[in-house]
Amino acid sequence: KKVVLAYSGGLDTSVILKWLQETYNCEVVTFTADLGQGEELEPARKKAEMLGIKPQNIYIDDLREEFVRDYVFPMFRANAVYEGIYLLGTSIARPLIAKRQIEIARETGADAVCHGATGKGNDQVRFELGYYALEPHIKVIAPWREWDLNSRTKLIDFAEKHQIPIAKDKRGEAPFSVDANLLHISAEGKVLEDPWETAPEYVYSRSVAPEQAPDEPTVVTIDFEKGDPVAVNGQHLSPAALLTRLNELAGDNGIGRIDIVENRFVGMKSRGVYETPGGTILLEAHRAIESITIDRGAAHLKDELMPRYAELIYNGFWWSPEREMLQALIDKSQETVNGTVRLKLYKGNVIVEGRRSHNSLYSEEHVTFEEDTVYDQRDAEGFIKLNALRLRLLKQAHG
Ligand code: ARG
Ligand code: SIN
Repeated sequence: KKVVLAYSGGLDTSVILKWLQETYNCEVVTFTADLGQGEELEPARKKAEMLGIKPQNIYIDDLREEFVRDYVFPMFRANAVYEGIYLLGTSIARPLIAKRQIEIARETGADAVCHGATGKGNDQVRFELGYYALEPHIKVIAPWREWDLNSRTKLIDFAEKHQIPIAKDKRGEAPFSVDANLLHISAEGKVLEDPWETAPEYVYSRSVAPEQAPDEPTVVTIDFEKGDPVAVNGQHLSPAALLTRLNELAGDNGIGRIDIVENRFVGMKSRGVYETPGGTILLEAHRAIESITIDRGAAHLKDELMPRYAELIYNGFWWSPEREMLQALIDKSQETVNGTVRLKLYKGNVIVEGRRSHNSLYSEEHVTFEEDTVYDQRDAEGFIKLNALRLRLLKQAHG
């Protein structure tokens, strides 16, 4: 018996590691991913070794480029937003973690995988739908749904009994629960549980408060190729480097904070405070480049489908045929989405200032308020009359 554990190196997953060895008497393989969460990974290796994991059973992977290129960018092609405001920063990382965990299970001959998400949330669903979609017969272990370590005190007692080091600030209740990657950082629970209470400033870590942002605006250009950003201020960057750059520019200008009460897939509402600095710029910029490069029919169709696509990602159905079908449609729409957008960043706002493209459908000749030679205004009369026909018949019939 062998199990691959998604291991952060923190207290909870270290307790899970020991608990797995004790409860299932199995060999544990740890998997720690760098998704741009901004934490050193070597301490996780040290800790795993210290907890008795063999060096060949410790996997540490830098997945930042893959994460941004194959998950974040495809999602942004859709302009995906959940419930009008959430840019899906946590949701989009889960399918990649699940995929890599299954790959490691295959490489090491493990028959089970394990994650540290609770039985109340979305993340358990996202991980496990990923596991089952990729490896139908895998055994899944979700300790939070099984064990009786359901209080902080019990968890700490268990850790002490098993010589698991506990960071000083982890002894007391952490003031909120965090998930982070290169796209976003989320805070939920504890001090945030009353949705009327203002989130304390210390919750935020990736952006200055808009009030504290510089009085001078920052102007930035983003170049797109086939719907994906490829350069910032004319400088070509890899996907992860580009998102990192946008995070800095946005964070300095107080951009990308949201405070939300969202509907979890399992049925409850939860309050969250998220920061998606670079992603917030990217969404505005992408919509702006699409505005001149995509035809109205295509644009409105993808806009209609967007909430469905966003919900699939939120609910954990990345590895589903319906998500792949929608992705194919969205990707097809991006063939002409090339060009440059210029934006102004100012005290929490992203303001589009200009857009241009060799594939532009914008026709100054047609739209001009001045005299033109291409459009006959008399054509509009019949267009309006036929559109009005049923409205007029209706009014005549019913008064
Ligand atoms: N509520 C958000 C979502 O479902 C964020 C979840 C954060 N996850 C976590 N383990 N702290 O996508
Ligand atoms: C968790 O339950 O582990 C975090 C919250 C969520 O997954 O929605």
